[in-house]
Amino acid sequence: MKRARTIAEIRAAVAEARRRGAQKVGLVATMGALHDGHYSLIDAARRDCDFTVVSIFVNPTQFGPDEDYRRYPRALEADVAGCQSRGVDAVFTPEVCELYPEGFATTVHVAGLTERLCGAFRPGHFDGVCTVVAKLFNTVGPDVAYFGEKDYQQAIVVRRMVADLDMQVRVEVCPTVREKLGLAMSTRNACLSAEERAQAGALYESLELARRLIQEGGRSPAEITQAVRAHLAAKAPLGTIDYVEIVDPDSLSNVELAERPVVVAVAVRFPAARLIDNMRVDLPEGGD
Ligand code: PAF
Repeated sequence: MKRARTIAEIRAAVAEARRRGAQKVGLVATMGALHDGHYSLIDAARRDCDFTVVSIFVNPTQFGPDEDYRRYPRALEADVAGCQSRGVDAVFTPEVCELYPEGFATTVHVAGLTERLCGAFRPGHFDGVCTVVAKLFNTVGPDVAYFGEKDYQQAIVVRRMVADLDMQVRVEVCPTVREKLGLAMSTRNACLSAEERAQAGALYESLELARRLIQEGGRSPAEITQAVRAHLAAKAPLGTIDYVEIVDPDSLSNVELAERPVVVAVAVRFPAARLIDNMRVDLPEGGD
């Protein structure tokens, strides 16, 4: 496995792979502290592509001034070893100054989609994500890039950016990987206290509750989100709810009635970490 620390090195590694016949290059962009959610993206890339690149970079520009950039879990050498044992072809582990050199002055902003859900609570977050993802796409030049459905808004925003900027990359969104009791795998889970972790399972339970209500004929987003909020308040009292929303899967705008496929999305701030989760709900066959 090639380890590239500079843009020149990763470009050379990908160019060499293409020279040797690789037709499809896959990219899994990560901020490290890899878990089974990341490894499922890596496995998908390895299944589909001839050459898989994993980037590991805790991107400072997507953290707000009061957020957890400094405390964000880091495990670089273990991640590199994990990638090696998973059959990754190249890891890209740049320093901050490699991606954001002195004088860096460009931001990629996707309007509209970034203003709702997490964007409303984390101003500038998606600008940071889009800017770094655009740079990684330009640097690695992947044919396919793999993102997790847990960060649903991120995946939709990146797809918009790719379409709007005519980037030649396919965005593949892979299912959320969950722990035994349903908690979505996330690097930030490692920050939770035992008590918070026990309560964090309520996010998935609350999404299951929403799904059941919709599939049993509930159509009012207000009633469904109220039930979800009540469940979270009862089962996760250490958490503060940022949002519970029922949105259109493509536009992310709130639906008036849950009468077609929707995404139920929640964000809860625990003292040690902010967690997000979501669930797509399709109506039963023949349902109206
Ligand atoms: O999902 C993440 O880990 C990050 O937002 C990403 C896509 C690697 C950009 O820093």
